[in-house]
Amino acid sequence: MKIALLGHGNVGRGVSGIIDSGNTGFTKQLEITKILVRDASEATDERMVFNIDEALDDDIEVVVECLGGIEFPFSCISKALNMKKHVVTSNKKVMATYYDQLIALADKNDVNIIFEASVGGGIPVMSNIRHTKRVDEISAFSGIFNGTTNFILDKMYKEQKPFREVLTQAQKLGYAESDPGDDIDGHDVKYKCCLTGNMVWDTSLSLTDITVFGIRTVNQKDIDFGKRHQSTLKLIGRGSKNDRQVQIFVIPEFINDNDTLAHVGSNLNCIVFTSTNLGIASYIGQGAGTFPTAHAVVQDLVSLLNGEDLKISTDEKFAINNKEYISRFYVRTENLVYFEDYIYKKIDPDTIITEPMDLYKLKELIEKTADKNLFVAGVSL
Ligand SMILES: NC(=O)c1ccc[n+]([C@@H]2O[C@H](COP(=O)([O-])OP(=O)(O)OC[C@H]3O[C@@H](n4cnc5c(N)ncnc54)[C@H](OP(=O)(O)O)[C@@H]3O)[C@@H](O)[C@H]2O)c1
Repeated sequence: MKIALLGHGNVGRGVSGIIDSGNTGFTKQLEITKILVRDASEATDERMVFNIDEALDDDIEVVVECLGGIEFPFSCISKALNMKKHVVTSNKKVMATYYDQLIALADKNDVNIIFEASVGGGIPVMSNIRHTKRVDEISAFSGIFNGTTNFILDKMYKEQKPFREVLTQAQKLGYAESDPGDDIDGHDVKYKCCLTGNMVWDTSLSLTDITVFGIRTVNQKDIDFGKRHQSTLKLIGRGSKNDRQVQIFVIPEFINDNDTLAHVGSNLNCIVFTSTNLGIASYIGQGAGTFPTAHAVVQDLVSLLNGEDLKISTDEKFAINNKEYISRFYVRTENLVYFEDYIYKKIDPDTIITEPMDLYKLKELIEKTADKNLFVAGVSL
């Protein structure tokens, strides 16, 4: 199967590394014949080309997109689908942003678009969803979808290091981008939960309806509160469905130490599904990194090679409504005045546990405080 690889950075290099070595399983039947890089200064072998039209010649059956970003990959993927080439991508942003259009375009051209690597990196999230759905209905998912924030929270918990110091360390180790906003503000998890929800419930969910809280303002006091209550702070993405409504949100949570998620350390991911017959099944592994992520991309290529049924449906229509998720919340802010009527327990002058409320009420109160340093987390005290 002839492949055009778009992008030769962390993931792209891993993909060409695995396929070019050609010595394991099905990789012998895969061949990369074109690699799109930015310009001649990046060309290290004769397969490299510098514009998308050169990459998409007639022999190519599959295009693998590992560029990153949104608009340029969207135009490359659209072009490839319109030329009736299958597409494999590791790019959650472009998939979650243009899900409807891309799935429809693949359908119209009778080809597949698949994106295993875009959620959970090396963990087989999408193929497990396909596998589980053959027999079962998945009612909910939850988990640690972002390795960078897990690394930061884990170091703060185990080594009592300040947030900024651990973030810098994560950047040096290549876990965090130079602009870490998508990770620490929860948007990376939002894209992944959107794609997970879409696949689980055969739908196309609106990214903007997902409620998101991040960990940008977390400090040692918050971590220590968890320790005192046999809990570990984690950034969690959750999705569940009842009737025609789906709840999806991203929020730091104090996870009880009896729960598996509390013990998933370092930069690992852990994604948990609840389904009718299988019950609860958790998948733990490397959510990023060159070779784990490339492994997932190559698995997608093998699925195409084997002619598996990879059609994706968006036929079900669900609205996101996070009103039904009711919880107590840990809130730390200098400006507690707007929370006065909702205090369940005062921890100290700037920290409370709220009475149970839904996420929209929480958001409304947080916005009123206008406190950029406010930190909020779900808590089950
Ligand atoms: N890294 C991971 O562990 C991981 C895990 C899961 C998913 N992903 C996803 O996989 C995708 C790729 O990530 P990555 O870490 O491999 O990023 P990366 O290291 O930045 O690689 C992207 C490559 O694409 C090139 N590129 C970008 N725009 C281009 C253009 N217009 N023409 C030609 N080349 C272009 C970049 O070149 P320049 O360097 O010149 O810009 C870079 O070499 C992203 O969507 C990311 O979210 C990554």
